[in-house]
Amino acid sequence: MELDLTVELRKIRLSSPVMPAAGTFGFGEEYAELYDLSCLGALVTKTFTLRPRSGNPQPRVWETPCGLLNSIGLENPGVDVFVAEIFPRLLRFGVPVVVSVYGESAEEFGEIARRIPKEAKALELNLSCPNVPGKPSVLSAEEIFSRVAAAREAWPGELWAKISPEGDHLASAKAAEEAGADAIVATNTFRGMAIDLERRAPVFSNILAGLSGPAIKPLCLRIVYELCKALRIPVIGCGGITTGQDALEFIFAGAHAVQVGTANFFDPLAIPRILKEMKEWLGARRVKSLAEVRGCARKR
Ligand SMILES: Cc1cc2nc3c(=O)[nH]c(=O)nc-3n(C[C@H](O)[C@H](O)[C@H](O)COP(=O)(O)O)c2cc1C
Repeated sequence: MELDLTVELRKIRLSSPVMPAAGTFGFGEEYAELYDLSCLGALVTKTFTLRPRSGNPQPRVWETPCGLLNSIGLENPGVDVFVAEIFPRLLRFGVPVVVSVYGESAEEFGEIARRIPKEAKALELNLSCPNVPGKPSVLSAEEIFSRVAAAREAWPGELWAKISPEGDHLASAKAAEEAGADAIVATNTFRGMAIDLERRAPVFSNILAGLSGPAIKPLCLRIVYELCKALRIPVIGCGGITTGQDALEFIFAGAHAVQVGTANFFDPLAIPRILKEMKEWLGARRVKSLAEVRGCARKR
């Protein structure tokens, strides 16, 4: 029997458990030249905001041992350009599109959610960006509740809430669940920084930047493990996933699906390779479906 990798979420089904993490896959065009994007569970867009944003000054990325610091600052042309020009291009790939959005208030989240075409497979709320000058990346549970509730009212389809790994992640995720989120994406980046010795100053204009990549995998895995125990809604794991084995660790911890971010930069074929490695590992052990092993590490 074929290995069944389909994922049943609250309102949707994905044909694959692996998808790119927001902001790390462009609009898929470069990757579509390298491999067939139908292997993606969904194509998750970069985060869009109500109005265009030019993002933060350079430098915006900085390598660290086993990780990457970024301070992109949500550069994007605004939701209306996304809807009119970019979304139709993404649909051409024939892959479900998950749209990531960010608002500075509950009202803004509601407004932007109303403008997203219903053909989008899901809406992912970025509740955790560490790179917006003057804005906290760690929201209180009350702020999360009101933002998710506003989007929930405006968007009837599948709704994902992407949380920060910092602060009280359990309270954040529970607030999103109570406000009507269908899944939690855990997690965004950790706040870090780097200092340029010659300039005797922080590397990034915003001082802080988001740390991603293999360095954060054990931290995110722990958070996913805890969330899967505490929540009723599915969790989508994200943070440092680089190999099929990494992805399976998140599934064994209880995640329904995974997102791959930084690995796309150092290996553009990361997603198809991760899928192949997952299939090989599971196939060699005669596992028939992901459902058979999901959360198995919690049952001991
Ligand atoms: C260059 C870069 C840009 C990112 N842009 C976004 C974004 O627009 N929206 C978002 O929610 N997360 C964004 N992220 C965070 C990733 O989606 C992901 O949550 C994080 O990098 C952890 O996963 P990873 O270790 O696999 O990269 C970005 C990360 C990087 C490295």
